[in-house]
Amino acid sequence: MGSQVTYVDLNISRESAIRVSSPQSLPQDVCQGPRWHQFALKLGCAGIILFTLAVIGLSASVIFLSQKLSIEKSTMDAQEKYRSTQERRNETTEITSPLKCPIHWHLLREKCLFLSHTFYSWKDSLADCYTKKSSLLLIQDVEELRLIQSLIKTGGILYWIGLNFTLSEKSWKWINGSFLYSDVLKIDGDDDENSCAYISNEKIFSEDCHSDNKWICQKELNPVSVS
Ligand SMILES: *[C@@H]1O[C@H](CO)[C@@H](O)[C@H](O)[C@H]1NC(C)=O
Ligand SMILES: *[C@@H]1O[C@H](CO)[C@@H](O)[C@H](O)[C@H]1NC(C)=O
Ligand SMILES: *[C@@H]1O[C@H](CO)[C@@H](O)[C@H](O)[C@H]1NC(C)=O
Repeated sequence: MGSQVTYVDLNISRESAIRVSSPQSLPQDVCQGPRWHQFALKLGCAGIILFTLAVIGLSASVIFLSQKLSIEKSTMDAQEKYRSTQERRNETTEITSPLKCPIHWHLLREKCLFLSHTFYSWKDSLADCYTKKSSLLLIQDVEELRLIQSLIKTGGILYWIGLNFTLSEKSWKWINGSFLYSDVLKIDGDDDENSCAYISNEKIFSEDCHSDNKWICQKELNPVSVS
């Protein structure tokens, strides 16, 4: 019985001795432990570095994007401001300088027309329009002629226009130097030396340039200051 107990005791102490000494008696296990540790540590470190880099990259791109957005916003703001000032400028331009004809002048399309009340020769009529910073009437086409004739209204009144006959060139010529194309406007009367053109509310006539008649001056519609 006593020997048996001793045996068991021994057995236990042996086992415990083996157990205690087991880490030292197995060198592979000892090496494997730290190696795993190192690997885990390296992995952890790499993870932390990657995470840090990702955070830095993300925050950098966030900063970049927000800056870009703010630049775009400020550009848009500037454009908006520019556009609104342009609009305001247009409004003020319209207010301060409307397109107007001088007093006693009639607005017709883009022209201002002056119908005289007195009677002059063609040459004197021409000169009078020059003093009014205008020219004797030039007529573009039949449509414009009709509009001007509707302005004359009363029959029998004749107005000189800026068209005369040049003997040297044997043709009717506008005072701006262009020839009249007879298929555009028809002139009643002779084509003679000293022939000038005047208009009634119905027709265009040829007449002696020295006779006295009313006349029509024209000027382009320009901005006139309100003051
Ligand atoms: C302002 O006027 C200019 C020319 O005078 C024109 O080109 C522009 O379109 C106008 N802007 C607006 C908003 O009306
Ligand atoms: C001169 O005036 C006539 C009549 O309005 C027009 O047909 C012609 O084009 C003008 N010529 C020039 C050079 O402006
Ligand atoms: C016809 O008009 C021109 C100016 O266009 C002028 O030089 C010329 O003397 C005029 N002719 C007559 C006969 O008045």
